[in-house]
Amino acid sequence: MPVQRPKDISKYFRANIRNLKPGMTVPVDIHLYFAQNDHLVLLRHANDVLSETFIGKYVKRDLDIWINNDDREAWDKYITGEYENIKINRQKMEKPEPDKLKPLIVEEKIEYVQGNAKLARSADLISVLDEANNAKNDIQYQRSASVAVEKSRELFGQVTAAVDVATQNTATDHAKAVVFDILDNVAGNTAKTMVNELWEMTATDKELRHGTNVATYAVILALAFGRVEYPVICDIALAGLLHDIGVSQIPFDVVRTPTRSLTPIQLRTFSSHVDESIRLIEMFNTLTPARVKTIIMQHHEKFDGTGYPQGLDGFKVLDLAQVLSIANLIDSVSSGYWDGKTRTLQQTLSTIVKFEKISTFPEYFNPEVFDAVLAWAKNPDAKEIKKAAEPASEIVQEQAKSIVKEKQSA
Ligand SMILES: [Fe+2]
Repeated sequence: MPVQRPKDISKYFRANIRNLKPGMTVPVDIHLYFAQNDHLVLLRHANDVLSETFIGKYVKRDLDIWINNDDREAWDKYITGEYENIKINRQKMEKPEPDKLKPLIVEEKIEYVQGNAKLARSADLISVLDEANNAKNDIQYQRSASVAVEKSRELFGQVTAAVDVATQNTATDHAKAVVFDILDNVAGNTAKTMVNELWEMTATDKELRHGTNVATYAVILALAFGRVEYPVICDIALAGLLHDIGVSQIPFDVVRTPTRSLTPIQLRTFSSHVDESIRLIEMFNTLTPARVKTIIMQHHEKFDGTGYPQGLDGFKVLDLAQVLSIANLIDSVSSGYWDGKTRTLQQTLSTIVKFEKISTFPEYFNPEVFDAVLAWAKNPDAKEIKKAAEPASEIVQEQAKSIVKEKQSA
């Protein structure tokens, strides 16, 4: 995934987080390093102003920060206080530019049919994916993979451009049809039949819509992050379809309660659905690939280690599990599972952003991964979206405040 930095940690030096000064511009990029799988993640850009809460979070967790060797002089001046006299030549690092979105074209009626309809909606993407997966050399692979990535980002932008819930549902159905076509086209993979059967089953059952929605968003996002390999696409689709089957084992009064209204005891009961999903999969289908089970096992883990069931943090969580987790949260917040209110994906993403900002840090997702998702989702009607998302954000603010209070009194 593009969020990974060069693995050569010798190009970075370890610095003491206690030297960061709240309220002051930090002149260098700050990274975290996860030795267990040799990943480096950009945590904050140069020229950001860091809050006390932000710094405190890391100090409390005893995490080191890593800074590029080229920035040593700027860092030294920053910690000795000479910083104000140095001129920052570096511009703030460019965030990914949102792709230019094309107007959304959705079919009136979505049919899972073969032939011309399929060609019209997904032929382009299928052909570049085929090229990438059958590439004879690296150059050929890179070329087709990058086109597939571009097309997937564009598709995600189209899905998130809808301004009302009805258009949103139609757009999601369109994306679902495209993803189904891709899966249908993947030949020679043992997971293919399972994915297709499950997909057809869940597509016709309204109650199971969550599974196909999550699988759809997860596949598009995985592709957008450059995971164009067919086995990966199949695995993440399967994980999306199966991730919540364990919910069937949870008492109905807990299941029907929106997630954010669950009491701590109910939440504990609800959390056991992850283990239940794995138990059911192992009972009924021993062929499920190990990676699918890992993704499912980790779909409620959070980047800051406050998730469940294992409380894994940082890159101990599989990249693809983070992608599924984003897809899952997006659908849960937009479908009403979260608080009983339906939202477009734009409103959903604004709500999640506000929620994350208000709780400042902890962060649910790797910040770089989530920033990229937001960049692809950005659309020209940002003002309207902001307005629409305001009532939701008020609710979120209240909830966030009570979470913070709970944590403080714990
Ligand atoms: Fe879940």
